Amino acid sequence: MSDDRLIVALDVPNVIAGMDMVSKLGETVSFYKIGLGMLTGGGLALADELKQQHDKRIFLDLKLFDIGATIEAAVKGIAQYDLDFLTVHGDPNVVKAAKEGAAGSKLKILAVTILTSLDREDLNSNLYKSGNISDLVVERAEKAFHAGADGVIASPLESKSIRNLNSASGKIIVTPGVRPEGSDLGDQKRVSSPSDAIKNGANHIVVGRPVIKSSNPKRAAKDILNEINR
Ligand code: C5P
Repeated sequence: MSDDRLIVALDVPNVIAGMDMVSKLGETVSFYKIGLGMLTGGGLALADELKQQHDKRIFLDLKLFDIGATIEAAVKGIAQYDLDFLTVHGDPNVVKAAKEGAAGSKLKILAVTILTSLDREDLNSNLYKSGNISDLVVERAEKAFHAGADGVIASPLESKSIRNLNSASGKIIVTPGVRPEGSDLGDQKRVSSPSDAIKNGANHIVVGRPVIKSSNPKRAAKDILNEINR
């Protein structure tokens, strides 16, 4: 099994494009993230096929948020698929309900703290309490851990402070916003290199466009793995 610290975001429109990318990456990549953009293009079926037929690990990035009973029912259904990671919003009630739904399965519940696309102005209009975003992210991570989350999604800038929390012991930190040197930022603003993200406490990094938009995706993935291991 290849180095599963690299999770490739399979941000393609449908199953056919997804399978094509997976076959291009071959043995180099063993962990894939499938998100909302692919859900209506057969994302769940692809997740299941990659897991069952191709021995890949799967991170289903659905960022669920609803009342407890609905979250529990949704997660119970997803847990039947034998996937690895699922995201929910980091509100303690949501996390607790998700853990109930996942009970008896190996599915790990990862909590989204504050979306990296939001700045302080957005938080004000969403009626979030005042304070510096990084502090709020760490506070929400801590609450999510206390509610039973197996891990959190954190930007490279916050992963170190989260890793230093006592409550983060044994927890998983997954970091998007990772860019190998010289690659395009796209819409990511707060980025770090693959090796810095790992050094700052991430167990896994999520990389999308620098791999899937590359003219040689396998080479791009190998370069990232080499950078982490250097
Ligand atoms: O292409 P790129 O490497 O920016 O892709 C990063 C992936 O991680 C995308 O699927 C994006 O939706 C996801 N993500 C993120 N920031 C978060 C949560 C998820 O970039 N806070």
